Amino acid sequence: MFMSDNNSGVHPDIIEAIINVNNGHDYSYGNDITTKKAIEKIRELLGVEADIYFVTTGTAANVIGLSGLLKPYEAVVCANTAHINVDECGALEKFSGSKILQISTENGKISKEEVIGFLHPLGDEHQSQPRIISISQTTETGTLYSIKEIKDLANFAHKNNMLLHVDGARIANAVVALNTTFKEMITDTGVDLLSFGGTKNGMMIGEAIVSLNKDLSKGFKFYRKQGMQLLSKMRFVSAQFVAYLSNELWKENASNANNMGKYFADRLLEIPGVTLKSKPETNMLFVYMKKDLINSLQKEFDFYLIDEETNLIRLVTSFDTSKDDIDNFIEFIKNIREIE
Ligand SMILES: Cc1ncc(COP(=O)(O)O)c(C=O)c1O
Repeated sequence: MFMSDNNSGVHPDIIEAIINVNNGHDYSYGNDITTKKAIEKIRELLGVEADIYFVTTGTAANVIGLSGLLKPYEAVVCANTAHINVDECGALEKFSGSKILQISTENGKISKEEVIGFLHPLGDEHQSQPRIISISQTTETGTLYSIKEIKDLANFAHKNNMLLHVDGARIANAVVALNTTFKEMITDTGVDLLSFGGTKNGMMIGEAIVSLNKDLSKGFKFYRKQGMQLLSKMRFVSAQFVAYLSNELWKENASNANNMGKYFADRLLEIPGVTLKSKPETNMLFVYMKKDLINSLQKEFDFYLIDEETNLIRLVTSFDTSKDDIDNFIEFIKNIREIE
């Protein structure tokens, strides 16, 4: 199945961590020792005393974090493809009352030049006030922002009394792909708010809201409770983070997903008539192939048809994708070709 890294299972080390923490009683609502450990692990990774709140979904991380920084008359500027814009059922608008201002993009990325166009209403009480630039790293279209691009956006935001949010549902894939560290990508660039993903990279359930500016996040614990994400048995999420961030499990998992993305791309290019929209940068591939081939493949494999007009499909590899999984897909295509 190549639909999404959401479709994969859970890494055995994570399951083991959940079992190990299922030992007697411990303090509830995040006052347990495991949650403290998990918070320290993320702080170590980022090299900063960030404010950290665990939640269960990426939508919750985005919506609660952003809402905590926004007044209802303020707006978020993001790509039209952003998960907060198209895949969260208007949760941010409902929860915060804020407007989303979208920039049309082909590759899922936005630049400061494009954000400038949204700044003219600043000070005008008739219009929503742009307050946060939100980017996704990895983007929803599988592309990446360079460290310099993130830094430029953060500087630009701060110069204009704005903040920079990173939706990091796939942040580990990005850190591995750019051969960098979380600190260099997030802390040193000046990001204010990070939605730190875990679920897509081998965890069962777990995301973290990370505020790098403690002055701004004083109210986050209240937003999390109002947002129904303060788990009484928090340690079962925290234990996953401890395991995920120990022995570089995050890196091992993301490396496999990314490497399998590259392997998949190479193997697909063996097939005449199959082309890639762009070279895969992480674990997401966007591939053009003939309609009849897509139809045949869909009988055997699960993946998304992104654009029916151009016959563009999306294939996503995961922490547990193997070369055999990919070879089966390729052999299936080659066999069809032989029969034809
Ligand atoms: C870029 C991005 N952000 C956030 C999410 C989190 O979504 P969910 O609320 O389903 O965990 C996803 C999930 O697919 C995503 O792709």
